[in-house]
Parts: sequence; C-alpha cells; structure tokens
Amino acid sequence: MKVGRNSPCWCGSGAKLKRCHLHRDVLRRPAVHLGHVGALRSVPAAIARPPYALDPPTWPMPEPQILSGAALERMRHAGRVAAEVLAETVAAVGVGVTTDELDAVAHDAYVARGAYPSTLGYNDFPKSICTSVNEVLCHGIPDDRPLADGDIVNIDVTAYVDGMHGDTSATVGVGTISPEAAALIDTTRDATLAGIADIVAGEPMQRIAAAITAVASARGYGVVAEYGGHGIGEVFHADPHVHHTLTARDDSVALPGLCVTVEPMLRTGAPRFTQADDGWTEILDDGMPSAQFEHTVVVTDDGAEILTVLADGSSAVSPTGPTSPA
Ligand code: MF3
Ligand code: CO
Ligand code: CO
Repeated sequence: MKVGRNSPCWCGSGAKLKRCHLHRDVLRRPAVHLGHVGALRSVPAAIARPPYALDPPTWPMPEPQILSGAALERMRHAGRVAAEVLAETVAAVGVGVTTDELDAVAHDAYVARGAYPSTLGYNDFPKSICTSVNEVLCHGIPDDRPLADGDIVNIDVTAYVDGMHGDTSATVGVGTISPEAAALIDTTRDATLAGIADIVAGEPMQRIAAAITAVASARGYGVVAEYGGHGIGEVFHADPHVHHTLTARDDSVALPGLCVTVEPMLRTGAPRFTQADDGWTEILDDGMPSAQFEHTVVVTDDGAEILTVLADGSSAVSPTGPTSPA
C-alpha cells in the first residue's frame, strides 16, 4: 500500500497525514549545533581490545559470520552486554543531560562488564557510543550539548567482549515529545521488529527490506537507502550488507547461523543528508527528524533469534519483550 502525504492519517483522526502525524511544523526542531567533544576516555589495560584499536581496520569487508556452538554462546553474551549498556544509558536520558554525560554512563557500563566500547578508536571515532539527535541521521559524536525538552535521541551501543561484538540502538524522547515525534519512534521500532520477524532461513535477505518498507510507507515515512545492517561477530562490520530498502542488487540469502544487524533509519522529510566537518555526523539537509533502532540477530532454522536482549528477553528496543512490538 502506497500512502501519500494527502492520504488520511493512519491514526483515524480523519485529517490528512501531512496535517496530522506528518505535520512538518510540529516535527521541525531548532537546528542541532554540534558541541565540543571532550577528551578520550581510557579503558583498563586488562580489557581485551579489538584488533582495529591497535592496527588500522582491514579491507575488503570480512566474510559473513556464521556461528554455532561455543562461538554463538559468546555472541549471545556480547549481545546481552550491549543490551545492558543500552538500557543503563537510556535510563540516564533527561532534559539538560549532555550526550557526553551519556557517553560516560555507557563507558562505565561497558568497563564494569569487562567489555571494550567497539566504537572507541574505530576509524578514529572518539567516543564509546553514537548519539544522534533529531535531524542527525546517524553517527553523532557525544559532546557538551545538553538535551532539550522535546528532542529525540538515538543511542547506539556496541560492546566487544569474549572476542565478539554486539550492536544495538534505540531512539527515545527527551522530556515531553510531540505525538508526531512519538509516532515516528513507534513506527521505526515496529519496522525494525517486523524486518527481524520476517527472516526465513534459506530465503532472500530482501524479505527484511520488504517488511521494513511496508511498515514505514503505510505511515508515510521514508526508509534511508544509503545505510544498512551488516554482518557481525568476531568483527564489527562484515558482509553481507543488510539492505533496508528493496533493490535488485541484493542477492544475499539468510543462512542458519548468520549473525547480522537490522538497523533501519526512518525519516519524516527528504532523503538528502550531508556529513559534518567532524567526518562522522550525518545530518538531514531539510532539518526534519529521523529515528533508528538496531538489534543483532542470528538466523535460526525457524526464523531469527534476537541476541541484544536482557536476561528476561526485554530490551530498550522493545521494553515489553523481543517478539511483541508495541
Ligand atoms: N554502531 C554503528 C552501527 O550500527 C556503527 C558506528 S561506527 C562509528 O553499525 F564509528 F561511528 F561509531
Ligand atoms: Co550496526
Ligand atoms: Co550500531
């Protein structure tokens, strides 16, 4: 189903989408100004570092990570640790809290679990999480900007522990957010979980993109095509590239044991974005907000198992549990 900006809003208000949950004036926030990035945080010498923290990263992209047995158990542990760090960091979000204060909370949470923050020193990224506010699409660097009432922020956590990386992110509101911003967040969560739920062993990975784009377009949002998920395991980023949009270029198949991330970004405005001078922060040109969620999953014989969950199966992505989207 293709929904346009003039379609009736999905919420049942009877108003056009563009006057209701895609209302641009309400969604638009003051432009995010990048702040000052603080000094590097240190990781105790006893915590094992990924190779790229010592040597430059490898090229070409590493092979897909197909894991079983003890290696998959280590991957479950890395996923659990990433989920715990994300939950602790999300709990610290509030009006007036700086994104660097969130980085400090996350950093201590990794270290307390014997984990290395995978982003720290990855291609010279200087922080232990990514924090992407409002129209920042992704890869925002934690800095001294305080979060403001009505902002939305994505927190992206990657933990390296037991020789494995676990990667997960969630977008949350700061203080009181508009119903339009809440709808963006909820739809992005739904799209992420729908993509994971449609994984079938032996079938094309494009099933993920089909499910994600169906959820997003039914509510009038665009899915970012330029970024996707990735293979993950002993390396942070591996093949296959996990497309979140439909493309004939994607011939990858969901093999049992394949570990990947699913991490779609949904946008409320136009697709164009530009990288800031810091070499990382990607910002949507029209200033309209986007949201993102991310889980690390393993393909199983009957679907996919979400690895980035707490001991009870919940997470900051889906607080009510891995298989029950809001
Ligand atoms: N965690 C991000 C992902 O989902 C990658 C961040 S790389 C960084 O793949 F260098 F920007 F931190
Ligand atoms: Co990722
Ligand atoms: Co991530």
